[in-house]
Amino acid sequence: MTVTTTTAPDATWQRWEHRVQTSAHPVAFRLLRAIAARGPVVRVPRVGVVVSDAALARDVLCDTAHYTKTGPGSPSDLWTPVLGPAVLLNMEGADHAALRRRLSGLFTPGYVAGLCDRVLAQPLADLTRRLAAGEEVDLVRVAQSCAGAAICEIVGLPAEPERFAAAHADASEVTKAVRLWRHSLPPRHVRRARDVLGRLTASAVHAYRRGGDDTLPGRLRGLGLSEDEARGAVGAFLLTGTETLVSFIPRLVALCHDTAWLDRLRDGTADAGAVVEEALRVTVPSPVMLRSVARPTAIGGVPVAPGDRVVIATLLCASVYGAFDPDRPHPPELRRLWFGAGPHFCLGMPLAMAQIRAVLDAVLAAGPVTVARRRTARHVLIPGYARLILTLRSAP
Ligand code: HEM
Repeated sequence: MTVTTTTAPDATWQRWEHRVQTSAHPVAFRLLRAIAARGPVVRVPRVGVVVSDAALARDVLCDTAHYTKTGPGSPSDLWTPVLGPAVLLNMEGADHAALRRRLSGLFTPGYVAGLCDRVLAQPLADLTRRLAAGEEVDLVRVAQSCAGAAICEIVGLPAEPERFAAAHADASEVTKAVRLWRHSLPPRHVRRARDVLGRLTASAVHAYRRGGDDTLPGRLRGLGLSEDEARGAVGAFLLTGTETLVSFIPRLVALCHDTAWLDRLRDGTADAGAVVEEALRVTVPSPVMLRSVARPTAIGGVPVAPGDRVVIATLLCASVYGAFDPDRPHPPELRRLWFGAGPHFCLGMPLAMAQIRAVLDAVLAAGPVTVARRRTARHVLIPGYARLILTLRSAP
């Protein structure tokens, strides 16, 4: 399917989403759209082979015979110097499958629900109470606190509110240096990212050595991971599971506000699961995925050779399916593409969905809220808001 969405956005939600994207990537966003307008698969010097069709993207992600996450231009160029050689994101084949199998019992529904109850209960009770009392609340701050709380849990630290902001700031430091056109991280960013991750994962190592089911690193040990594998897994969770949620949660609420779906969610006439899934489709908090070509083949008729970098523009793959409409089911080729496809499909999806629903429920529980003010985040890897101030529509 060819991308045709080059016209100026018209609805309020589209204008805001457009602004979110262009504030983050003033050049790259426009460039990607211009590329996609030329066809579903386009070779671009210095960037790679850009794929903006959902069915072709899924084919690439599921075809491990021809594409890899470990070759030139793939995520391993970015993350191996920081995280080490064996952390899911930069593994393939039998080793990757074996580690995934051992991790399959990690984010079970019971564990995820318990984690959210344990670590998010207090920040979310505060959110509902403050909104219900007529206060203004910055949802970006709340999402950062929730991310910080989840990070404490992941690295095996007690989830104490005074740690949350620093934990989030540390984790976001690691992704700061990534840019679409960069094939690797500059050495000083690698050093900085390794320092920060070393600090964060040091507590994970203590928790791993203590063992037991009451911390996530302890559970990793129980699942049979070695200390190095557990440290790597914790690093991968911090890298993939922090900024995606901090970007998405405020955008979800802004989008539902701008389209009046927030009222339908509150009065129970909307299916919250469908609304969240459709909001993921139009925002796509993981806007691109990278692969390296391992063996000669073709994508949609465009020949590719070993060493070529494939840029799957998930945002563009999803945007051709039209305006925000939670009542319209997603076609099979698109289904949850924002969480990937094939062997690297997002391991943390159950945790992500539980955190998203917990924050959304806490906002809805406060009463009819409105967006009082907002500001988009500039020059960030994952587009989002810098501030999203919510308040009750009519204060009591
Ligand atoms: C809305 C939130 C999230 C989105 C949109 C998202 C998206 C993705 C995507 C697209 C991939 C596949 C990348 C690829 O194939 O190149 C991925 C992989 C992964 N995600 Fe998520 N993610 C989210 C939250 C989380 C959370 C909360 C965690 C855990 C704490 C997590 C852990 C992982 C891990 C470990 C992988 C690597 C899996 C592998 O390579 O086998 N993610 N995620």
